[in-house]
Amino acid sequence: MSDSSIAVAVIGATGIAGQQFLSALSKHPMFHVTALVASSRSAGKTYEEALCNDDGQLCWYGDDSFTDFADMIVVDAKTYVPDVSLVFSCVDGAVAMEIESRYARHVPVISTTSAFRYEDDTPLLIPNVNLSHAALLKRQQETRGFKGFVVPQPNCTTLGLAITLAPLHEQFKISHVTMTSMQAVSGAGRTPGVSSLDILDNIIPYIVNEEQKIETELKKILGISKGTTIQDASFFVSCACYRVPVIDGHTESVFVEFEQDVSEKNIREALTSAGTMTQDCPSSPMEWITVFDDPYRPQVRLDRERGNGLTTSVGRLRQDGSARRWKYTLVSHNTKAGAARGAILLAEWLYQEGWLSV
Ligand SMILES: NC(=O)c1ccc[n+]([C@@H]2O[C@H](COP(=O)([O-])OP(=O)(O)OC[C@H]3O[C@@H](n4cnc5c(N)ncnc54)[C@H](OP(=O)(O)O)[C@@H]3O)[C@@H](O)[C@H]2O)c1
Repeated sequence: MSDSSIAVAVIGATGIAGQQFLSALSKHPMFHVTALVASSRSAGKTYEEALCNDDGQLCWYGDDSFTDFADMIVVDAKTYVPDVSLVFSCVDGAVAMEIESRYARHVPVISTTSAFRYEDDTPLLIPNVNLSHAALLKRQQETRGFKGFVVPQPNCTTLGLAITLAPLHEQFKISHVTMTSMQAVSGAGRTPGVSSLDILDNIIPYIVNEEQKIETELKKILGISKGTTIQDASFFVSCACYRVPVIDGHTESVFVEFEQDVSEKNIREALTSAGTMTQDCPSSPMEWITVFDDPYRPQVRLDRERGNGLTTSVGRLRQDGSARRWKYTLVSHNTKAGAARGAILLAEWLYQEGWLSV
């Protein structure tokens, strides 16, 4: 570990997103994990014990880095962990506001939860999309008396949509977006999660608050930064969200209308040239957005792991009746791009820009 490596706590370390954080942080060149934090249910146990269900079965869904953390003792989220310089929070949404505020008084918090997403003084930052919104963090620090800050990630379904629409909105100005999602079961978390009896051989046509979250978040993310405020994008958004029997990776069917006619060549160029802002960060994928010609791609099983789960895959790009209206399909990894690895990429960029210190 180098002298410039930052000590981090992962709050919500036992959950699905927390496990992905640990997988991605094992042997990370900028960050090392010194504290695993979860609820009182897990506190005081080794990480391995905390991950076992009532039958003693280990419920680990990350990669082969588990042994790096197995013997660490899990800390209760009610206890403040000092001596960390950065917090990754992926705690249950209901308790996140209090926990994240407590840490942000001292250190930066990068969060996958919704607690701060809709606050006026809080940007919803996505690497390569709206990093200029980071300036709003100064207002958050001033108004809340934070030495650190809380920067939330968007909902995991908003993420791929915003990543693909950002370069299109910047160049061609969007007037309408309609999106139907087919969302993986891991998006519902580990406890209680989605019961196998409910989802196998089935599609569930409702995910609580999901459509409203995406509609609100997308307009904020693609809004204009005015220094201490963000002016929401003015286009119309409508979403329909479905839970499908896929373990990881969200598929989205997107219909977009522009204020002007646009050619397929220009859309492809805009999508494939996105992603340059974080190209010097260690986690940055080779391709930020991959655009397929093959009409059978993207497929969630084949494409969710592209770029270590950080690449958004796009295909089936075609006109929808006129050169103003286009449609496409995207695949994005919900627990990697949409949670842990996306948050870590953002942290790498914040580090390079001087927002984090050892
Ligand atoms: N899963 C995804 O694809 C995804 C993607 C983007 C964002 N998110 C967001 O990330 C957060 C975590 O999601 P997840 O899927 O990882 O959920 P999860 O698997 O259910 O994990 C929840 C985590 O929160 C902890 N927790 C629960 N109640 C707590 C309490 N009262 N005090 C302290 N800690 C508590 C749990 O600890 P115990 O194990 O000790 O109970 C566990 O570590 C949620 O806000 C979710 O919306 C998830």
